[in-house]
Amino acid sequence: MDKLRFVGISSSPRHGNTEIMVKEALNAAKQEAMERGYEAETVFISFKGKKIQPCLNCDACIRQRRYCILKDDWLDLVKNIIDPIPNGLILGSPVYFFNVNSAMRAFMERCTSLVKGVWDPEFPHPVPDWSRTAAGAVTVGYDRNGGQEHALTSMLQFLLLNGFVTVSEPHVGGYIGASGWQMGNDGAKTDAILEDEIGLSSCIALGKRIARTGILLSGRKL
Ligand SMILES: Cc1cc2nc3c(=O)[nH]c(=O)nc-3n(C[C@H](O)[C@H](O)[C@H](O)COP(=O)(O)O)c2cc1C
Repeated sequence: MDKLRFVGISSSPRHGNTEIMVKEALNAAKQEAMERGYEAETVFISFKGKKIQPCLNCDACIRQRRYCILKDDWLDLVKNIIDPIPNGLILGSPVYFFNVNSAMRAFMERCTSLVKGVWDPEFPHPVPDWSRTAAGAVTVGYDRNGGQEHALTSMLQFLLLNGFVTVSEPHVGGYIGASGWQMGNDGAKTDAILEDEIGLSSCIALGKRIARTGILLSGRKL
């Protein structure tokens, strides 16, 4: 059997708090899989230094029957979740103005070209089948109630819309995903999340849940 594969994405423009949370969840997923006797690998993707433009609604993907024509880093990044399809996905964004940041939003918008095969039988790429991929979201804000739930909801809606099996882990208070807080630290601090024990615990719980669900969806036993 192939190794289980868990992919984590941080849309922060820095190697900071979001990245720490995504990696925490990824490591927990791998650990959980290994404790259950399965080999697993993790892939971490950071948007730092990457260019991802928003969708221009130019419809070139429809007219030319191809993935998005915009020339930037989106296609290379998204390949990590379409070829091969992962067993688990963790989307992570910092909270910007009570929601995900624009890089995450742009990344999600551009995925529209992946699914044109739904309407066009001649489209050369199959619609990615994420129905066996367990997925969840993590976020971190400067404020204790700074919009984390809105950011998580935006990512969960994207995951649901695209057929992922979305999961969360409510027992540490995340309810709809892992939620982090900078705990009054200077907003410039890129590792303040390390002091947020509950936020980190929610990442670990989410990662484990993603692993358990991904294992079941792959046809393996728990
Ligand atoms: C443009 C901008 C807008 C922000 N808006 C919010 C906000 O609405 N609520 C909040 O709690 N934090 C907000 N923050 C703070 C970040 O979410 C916080 O510093 C986070 O830890 C950054 O994540 P990173 O370290 O992964 O980059 C904002 C930061 C920036 C740069």
